[in-house]
Amino acid sequence: MRIDVITLFPEYLDPLRASLVGRAQQDGRFALAVHDLRQFATDRHRTVDDSPYGGGAGMVMRADVWGRALDAVAGPDTVLVVPTPAGERLDQTLAAELAGAQHLVFACGRYEGIDQRVADVAAETMAVREISIGDYVLAGGEVAVLVMVEAVARLLPGVLGNPESAVTDSFGAGSPGLLEHPQYTRPPVYRGRPIPAVLTSGDHAAVARWQRDESLRRTARRRPDLLAVLDADTLDEADVAV
Ligand code: ADE
Repeated sequence: MRIDVITLFPEYLDPLRASLVGRAQQDGRFALAVHDLRQFATDRHRTVDDSPYGGGAGMVMRADVWGRALDAVAGPDTVLVVPTPAGERLDQTLAAELAGAQHLVFACGRYEGIDQRVADVAAETMAVREISIGDYVLAGGEVAVLVMVEAVARLLPGVLGNPESAVTDSFGAGSPGLLEHPQYTRPPVYRGRPIPAVLTSGDHAAVARWQRDESLRRTARRRPDLLAVLDADTLDEADVAV
């Protein structure tokens, strides 16, 4: 996979050189390039924005500047991702879909966003997804891109040391729509708190039952919306007691 990010603040994407995502690039799992939008501005002041038609607060990013940037970076195999609080919501299913693309281009808006004609014209020749990472407003798309690239990169083949992690995580492909149960490691007693005894019982069925009960309880407490849409077929008899 190849990923291009177009932004007014290339340094904002520096964290993508670190940790799991940075290592995945070094290992050749995907290639990432970050482009400065301002290099596609043509006037003396390198202007990228202007006031909105129809009035209103703030500035809108110019279609012609973005058009030149996309001409240089995107092609017919591109999935163009425009982070915006007005987009469809990112979830694990959408992350997995993006992970299947050959080429992702992220167009980071600032201010009041990008002239809508940029996405509309691009949609004539490539796939375009306007995506929100949640119901809150960030100062621009850059942090949303950090979130999306990390969610996508860890799904690429060979990126996770143990691919099963991606399957059993909350919202992973193998997750039954529940939040993940709590995890414990050494020491066995921490500030007077022992780990749950069942985890060292050696009884695999009892451990699996305990983990499932904890998932159900946690989901009921923190995300009742997930329980409400759970497929009844994924519940077993013992679940009802939780
Ligand atoms: N840009 C500003 N807020 C955003 C959000 N919540 N998701 C994606 N992009 C954004």
